[in-house]
Amino acid sequence: MTHPNEQPVLSVKDLHVSFPSEAGSVSAVRGVDFDLYPGRTLGIVGESGSGKSVTSMSIMGLLPDYAKITGSVKFDGRELLGLTDKQMSEIRGQGIGMIFQDPLSALTPVFDIGTQIVEAIQAHQNVSKSNALKQAEALLELVGIPDPKLRLKSFPHEFSGGMRQRVVIAIAIANNPRVLIADEPTTALDVTIQAQILDVIKVAQRETGAATIMITHDMGVVAETADDVMVMYAGRPVERGDVDTIFNHPRMPYTVGLLGSTPRPDVSSNEPLTPIEGNPPILVDLHDRCQFAQRCPVAIDACLKGEPR
Ligand SMILES: Nc1ncnc2c1ncn2[C@@H]1O[C@H](COP(=O)(O)OP(=O)(O)OP(=O)(O)O)[C@@H](O)[C@H]1O
Ligand SMILES: [Mg+2]
Repeated sequence: MTHPNEQPVLSVKDLHVSFPSEAGSVSAVRGVDFDLYPGRTLGIVGESGSGKSVTSMSIMGLLPDYAKITGSVKFDGRELLGLTDKQMSEIRGQGIGMIFQDPLSALTPVFDIGTQIVEAIQAHQNVSKSNALKQAEALLELVGIPDPKLRLKSFPHEFSGGMRQRVVIAIAIANNPRVLIADEPTTALDVTIQAQILDVIKVAQRETGAATIMITHDMGVVAETADDVMVMYAGRPVERGDVDTIFNHPRMPYTVGLLGSTPRPDVSSNEPLTPIEGNPPILVDLHDRCQFAQRCPVAIDACLKGEPR
């Protein structure tokens, strides 16, 4: 994961995010650290509630005001934490493009998609409407929407879920971002469509050269898309490495568990998949121990005597 000659395009250091709640402060993200290098894809994987979306929302400056955020998020060397909404909206959509789980909520129902793509382009580029429309058409073509010129006039509800996600990808790359963040981009879609959307994301990456963060709970998606992996558990990175190492020599029992609960088409066996028993901890008043210890099949006393780095 080290790239001595290159600067990371995105560098997250010691990120902590908590939310006040009636039961106490919810520690959603507890010390996330990573560097994202140009041209690379980092997979962030972990089960529901492990802090993946809160991590990506803090990078994008999209968390509510009551969230308490500390640490550092540097984009191209510039600190993003503490920027105003106006400054962040310059970066969103231009420097960093985002693809969400639910493509319908990412689009406005009342405008045709041509208008929405043109708006995204003109928000960051000084081009005429007709020029922006040409770009919009080319973008739809790139993401594999048939009859792009005609479809510019369609409304979001006139597309299938998979086609809508293609539109969202087109908007995410409209201004040639340096970073793309895809948060569970295929979770809401049919399995048959999932692979197609991952392919479209690859095309988008190739076209823009963007470094990518692929957030997923699915090790299969990681295998398919990522160069490097960061496994999260209870708000904290618990294992990281390149894809081959993580898949072939996982060290953290949680990672082993995730792999055991992932169908592996490359390994032909009739062995049943092994689910991870139990649930992740509630992120209020965490005990000082390995947070996975209570579900871990190989836990020892030391695991209960403080949380490992
Ligand atoms: N706005 C918020 N206010 C309070 N708590 C929140 C808020 N957003 C997230 N959380 C809490 O932070 C924790 C991490 O949530 P997050 O959405 O990052 O999980 P995730 O890893 O993305 O899960 P999933 O796979 O289900 O998307 C959860 O306990 C969640 O309830
Ligand atoms: Mg999420």
